[in-house]
Amino acid sequence: MKKTIVIMTALVAVFLGSAWVAAQGERGNARNGQAIYEQHCLRCHGLTLEGNGPDSRYLIVAPANLQSRRSRAKTDWELLVAITHGVIFSPMHGWRDRLTDEQILDVLSYIRMMAPFDAVS
Ligand code: HEC
Repeated sequence: MKKTIVIMTALVAVFLGSAWVAAQGERGNARNGQAIYEQHCLRCHGLTLEGNGPDSRYLIVAPANLQSRRSRAKTDWELLVAITHGVIFSPMHGWRDRLTDEQILDVLSYIRMMAPFDAVS
């Protein structure tokens, strides 16, 4: 009985794990993401994603340069957490109350299209 529970738990873990990996791989629709980016993110992160949008000069904490080696070395998951929950002590608030999960994946997809993941950094 105990063994069955252990096996069942392991199966559920594998299942959830693979669903998660699939979700990570799927990302979203970069074209929709671009529209969302232009509407909500461009004013800080800029047209080229280098953190030099029109509002950036008014901020004490500069927007992240998403093209930097530092940002590109971050995993999708790390960027997703930043977009969803925001970055503490910075003007980057979380977007989960303003964007749907799908829209967040779309915008992530756009970011990764413009500034692909680069683990070597
Ligand atoms: C008010 C200006 C502002 C807006 C609007 C804004 N951001 Fe940010 N963003 C920032 C700042 C500031 C940081 C934190 C920089 C730091 O950590 O030094 C940041 C950090 C991030 C990071 C983390 C980057 C990293 O390397 O850790 C991501 C990803 C990001 N923003 C995406 C977005 C997306 C997507 C949107 C639009 C939905 C958005 N931001 C809107 C200012 C902004």
